[in-house]
Amino acid sequence: MDLLEHQAQELFAKHGVPVGRGRVATTPDEASAAAAEIGGRVVVKAQVKTGGRGKAGGVRLAGGPDDARGVAAAILGMDIKGHTVHKVLVTEASDIAEEYYVSLLLDRSNRSFLALASREGGVDIEQVATENPDALARLAVDPVDGLAWEDALRLAADAGLPDDVRDPVATVLVRLWNVFRSEDATLVEINPLARLADGTVLALDGKVTVDDNARYRQPGHPRFADVTATDPLESRAAAKNLNYVKLDGSVGVIGNGAGLVMSTLDVVAYAGEEFGGVRPANFLDIGGGASAQVMADGLEIILGDPDVRSVLVNVFGGITACDAVADGIVQAIGLLTEAGETISKPVVVRLDGNNAAEGRRILAEAALPGVISSGTMDGAARLAAELAGKGA
Ligand SMILES: Nc1ncnc2c1ncn2[C@@H]1O[C@H](COP(=O)(O)OP(=O)(O)OP(=O)(O)O)[C@@H](O)[C@H]1O
Ligand SMILES: [Mg+2]
Repeated sequence: MDLLEHQAQELFAKHGVPVGRGRVATTPDEASAAAAEIGGRVVVKAQVKTGGRGKAGGVRLAGGPDDARGVAAAILGMDIKGHTVHKVLVTEASDIAEEYYVSLLLDRSNRSFLALASREGGVDIEQVATENPDALARLAVDPVDGLAWEDALRLAADAGLPDDVRDPVATVLVRLWNVFRSEDATLVEINPLARLADGTVLALDGKVTVDDNARYRQPGHPRFADVTATDPLESRAAAKNLNYVKLDGSVGVIGNGAGLVMSTLDVVAYAGEEFGGVRPANFLDIGGGASAQVMADGLEIILGDPDVRSVLVNVFGGITACDAVADGIVQAIGLLTEAGETISKPVVVRLDGNNAAEGRRILAEAALPGVISSGTMDGAARLAAELAGKGA
């Protein structure tokens, strides 16, 4: 999960990385009040999860509360690379002497972490890396040993930072490592890390990506999730522990196991070519032990997607055998009907693997309206694509 700048700054402050005073505002009046509280000149900054806010006009200086109100009114509601600005950060304006770049990231190819520093901050770091690679110093960081102050100091020197800022920058780097490690981040970046006119060093921007796999041990992180930006069906699925991903086609896909679901997507897209380019509407993995409740939850989410015109349930029976899955489907449809849900879209079911024959018999016997059994994956995909193509 990527964090917004003000959230990154909150984590920076928690670990002693120096940041300026700031307040989040969602209306021009709030921005004005924040500016009054901070005093003096402020910078009003769009809070969106994309880079290049400054170039897009999303980072602007304001002389005082009245100015901040006007600037915030211009930035709020702005579209920056497809992201609507709902919040701004009002922060004290700093007197910048120089801008540097520092970051820590997960270096997958070397199976370790990497610290980066450059004397050329405030600009696009990819550009520095390609046009002036010498200006970007790198240091591998051992996950167990962490980043020692001496090594951080050497990195600051390698990056060509002026003598007098190497000490404070090394301190920032070590604290940034603490953010990285304690918050289970895969990226922490400060661009620019500014040297102010009075010689102090301050993080003027922050980018943090936290590892969602560590959510179980980071109780403080879920509140960073942006509920307004998430697809409502995705939030509902997440609340029920289902892996659901919205796609842009019209065949709802439910399967057990990510590998099977992915190949089902391919088969549906392939079969769909014949019916005018029908494609999968989503990806829903109900996992190994598909109980009736899990199947009901899955079907409810898929049927709740207005783009879905047909559903393909593709299950390979393993430890949870096909008869149990078939029972699950029958009960799931029962549960949904009881809950007042009308199953108005055709559901094609392909069962194979452990106890497949028994599973198919259960479905045939239940004779559920709208539920069609198909013996093969290709046949089931073709049928689901055809039904979706007809707009059935
Ligand atoms: N508090 C501040 N005081 C003075 N100048 C600032 C302040 N915050 C940002 N700036 C200036 O604005 C520039 C852009 O700000 P920032 O790095 O936050 O946005 P950005 O780089 O455009 O956005 P992104 O990092 O999303 O690409 C900085 O390089 C700095 O020169
Ligand atoms: Mg920046």
